[in-house]
Amino acid sequence: MSNLQVVPSDHVTDSELFRQLDPQRIPVHIAMIMDGNGRWAELRGLPRISGHREGLSALREVLDTCHQLGVRIVTIYAFSSENWNRPPHEIELLMNLLEEYLQRERSHFLEHRIRFFPIGQLEKLPASVSTLVHEVAEETRHFTERTLTVALSYGGRAEILDAIQRLAYDVESGTLRPSQIDESLFTRYLATDGLPDPDLLIRTSGETRISNFLLWQIAYTELYFTKTLWPDFRRQELMRAILDYQRRERRFGRVSHSLSRQSPS
Ligand code: FPP
Repeated sequence: MSNLQVVPSDHVTDSELFRQLDPQRIPVHIAMIMDGNGRWAELRGLPRISGHREGLSALREVLDTCHQLGVRIVTIYAFSSENWNRPPHEIELLMNLLEEYLQRERSHFLEHRIRFFPIGQLEKLPASVSTLVHEVAEETRHFTERTLTVALSYGGRAEILDAIQRLAYDVESGTLRPSQIDESLFTRYLATDGLPDPDLLIRTSGETRISNFLLWQIAYTELYFTKTLWPDFRRQELMRAILDYQRRERRFGRVSHSLSRQSPS
């Protein structure tokens, strides 16, 4: 599978990779499925939570690199609706980690003018976590240059169903006619309203699934799968993913740019 290959040779330096990037074609929006924390820890004989902790350190490095490269929006799958089926002890540790992360990053978001934008069924989070999530979202909501969307207790199908339900209520109450429903209106009912669709979706750890993430939004997103476990997905790995993305031609269902230039008008 071509997407599993590492783009250039493994022995290039950071600055060489940086030089290879085309600054004109940096993705605006990158979505990430940060998979493999548990396996990273198990491979080292450590408890799974150590993998999640190391995963947070990778996240910080990846977000800093995104900032440096000019990626404006990053959306991360921090906790899926299905993750509630994990052992209660692991859920509790993940929630504690999320709380710790937000306490720590709060000032970083303010200082770097990053909008923290949570999506998902936030009402299912423990009260202390949900209060903090709402507070940080509120105090950063006016920032427009950079957004960190964090999917928490999130599922793509649930998001679509929720949108359909709210559309149906609007039709029932007479504020909307069924004939007005088109793609652009539907998008406004999704949790990601206001964000452009991701240009690139990265999933680590060798799994090649979407796992109910941003189902509507990734219709034309470029997918990048790597065997690297999330805690090892650092600055260089991100640059390789972007380089791979830049080699692709995005056609959005149209014919190739070069072919269309050759064809008679
Ligand atoms: C998958 O690893 C990752 C998660 C379930 C959540 C990702 C969480 C973090 C990076 C840390 C917490 C995030 C925040 C924002 C606090 P896995 O446990 O499924 O790994 P495995 O497939 O190897 O078991």
